[in-house]
Amino acid sequence: MCGIVGYTGDKKAIDIVVDGLRRLEYRGYDSAGVALTNGEGKPLLVEKRAGKLGNLESALDSRFGSSHSGIGHTRWATHGGPTDSNAHPHLSDDGKLAVIHNGIIENYVELKKELLAKGHAFSSETDTESVAHLLGDAFKENGGDLAEAMRMVCKRLRGSFTLLAVHSDDPKRIVGARRNSPLVVGVGKGENFLASDVAAFISSTKSAMELGQDQVVIVTPSDVTVTDLDGKKVEAKSYEITWDAAAAERGGFQHFMLKEIFEQPKAIADTLLGRIEESGKVSLPELESMADALATDVDRILILACGTAFHAGLIGKYAIEAWAGIACDVELASEFRYRRPVLDPRTLVVTISQSGETMDTLMALRHAKSLGAKALSICNTHGSTIPRESDAVIYTHGGPEIAVASTKALLTQVIALHLFALYLGQVSQGTSGKPSSASSKNSRSTLSASEAKKIGSELLGLPSKVEQVLETVEALREMTRGFKDATSVLFLGRHVGFPSALEGALKLKELAYMHAEGFAGGELKHGPIALIENGTPVIAIMPPLGSEIREKMASNIQEVKARGAHVIVIADTATDIPATDFAIRVPATDELLQPILSIVPLQVFAYEMALVRGNDVDQPRNLAKSVTVE
Ligand code: G6P
Repeated sequence: MCGIVGYTGDKKAIDIVVDGLRRLEYRGYDSAGVALTNGEGKPLLVEKRAGKLGNLESALDSRFGSSHSGIGHTRWATHGGPTDSNAHPHLSDDGKLAVIHNGIIENYVELKKELLAKGHAFSSETDTESVAHLLGDAFKENGGDLAEAMRMVCKRLRGSFTLLAVHSDDPKRIVGARRNSPLVVGVGKGENFLASDVAAFISSTKSAMELGQDQVVIVTPSDVTVTDLDGKKVEAKSYEITWDAAAAERGGFQHFMLKEIFEQPKAIADTLLGRIEESGKVSLPELESMADALATDVDRILILACGTAFHAGLIGKYAIEAWAGIACDVELASEFRYRRPVLDPRTLVVTISQSGETMDTLMALRHAKSLGAKALSICNTHGSTIPRESDAVIYTHGGPEIAVASTKALLTQVIALHLFALYLGQVSQGTSGKPSSASSKNSRSTLSASEAKKIGSELLGLPSKVEQVLETVEALREMTRGFKDATSVLFLGRHVGFPSALEGALKLKELAYMHAEGFAGGELKHGPIALIENGTPVIAIMPPLGSEIREKMASNIQEVKARGAHVIVIADTATDIPATDFAIRVPATDELLQPILSIVPLQVFAYEMALVRGNDVDQPRNLAKSVTVE
């Protein structure tokens, strides 16, 4: 969950490293540190501080300006609290080697015992410090080869890690390694970068390289070499970053989250771009290799994800079952991975992850694959581990999401699931355009061509409908402020409105630190109604006009109103709902697409509530965006 940056080149390393850390601060923000080299044999320049990056910056003096190579770390504490001494980098005994780490070294207790017996002194409570001592010893033993030291040490480590190390005897070289934790290389001209995420260096270079599991990378200003743990050279895959550098900046918005809320129309449009023809036919060439299997060999879909991505899955389930006629279950990745689920090769597992690195989702994917399932991923981050380990991937084109609370990633994940559901319907009917699947028509109940066309055009119209919702933001923010002191907020929904309600509650918890819960309208009388007190805010998501459950939801609203709730309704029209205290209008759309519109006001509600309660919107307490540890 920590953010890691390395730079070697001819520029002022401290500026690049600190700027990279600022862009990665969403990954962890309870302490930060740097280690820069300062010419051969000269002591490393090291500083680290508990608290936000600003604390580190104010501790840096002019000496740091002379370096052209170094590493930096922003931490989300796991082993050892967020103190100066637990902050990274950690140093070898002689102080010549510095290492930073993201992940967890599971066998650190036994390693530490061994190192203590050898006489090493420890100055932190972290698992990482053992790695610093191991690397320092290995460096000495092998005559000063940092890459070989890294390979030797990685073989001894259990758990997950991204490691970057520098040594004062070899000041232009940075050595990195990864296992189950992200690390990408940014390839520049006369300079190279290493980082947890491309956001750290996209303003300097758009050329990147992916690293595989258990690979070691050695960068100097002019060269990038990748090896396996035995030292054998490996060809790393290069790619161009399509994200716009400006996308990782706040661009005049007060917070990344607000900017990302406003970017949603574009993010949706980009995710749809080129994927729906006028006839309603969905084009997903990335699924071509599995089209036949999807048509005939899959009779169950299992979606696995965490957090907001899990809610995307819950929403997508409705479309997959309704449009493609395939049974679909959705499960929390963290629960699935420790079960003994009944899966077979006729189950398609779909993992959803913005980052592509969430540990529980990755482990659930591996678990599913080991049980014989085929795997598709829906992901926003090119080349990340989850898509790399899946049989196919549908990329969302949401661009970088920096705020910890997910907004545009969710909407684009739902759009990707809608596209996938339509595609599944198509291949079932043998209309995917793949000649071999023409014979595979099966008995699943899918959409007619005219229904598919109608949904396709509704999908294409969603970006402008989200724009319309965004026009109401100011009124929404004003209304939200009135609930600043509420002790609890309840969210009610039915059908796809239910997972939307869950997402509304999650956003509020994450950002406003308030008690919030999402309920299915039908469950209200089975318990939740007891929570209603005079003035309790209840946000109700109305199914669209014409839906068979609209009246049922209207009754739920009456029930909570009768017990004193303050009812805020999100609806395409609220004129037929008498108990409404405040109505948030969203444009009319297909029932299954409605979450794309109704979730936007919920995001704004949580945003404003965080702001008015004085919370840190982009970096809420205790959270991190990319949860790469269990
Ligand atoms: C964290 C983030 C959430 C995100 C979840 C899954 O909890 O704070 O916003 O939904 O991880 O992340 P992923 O990258 O797998 O979508």
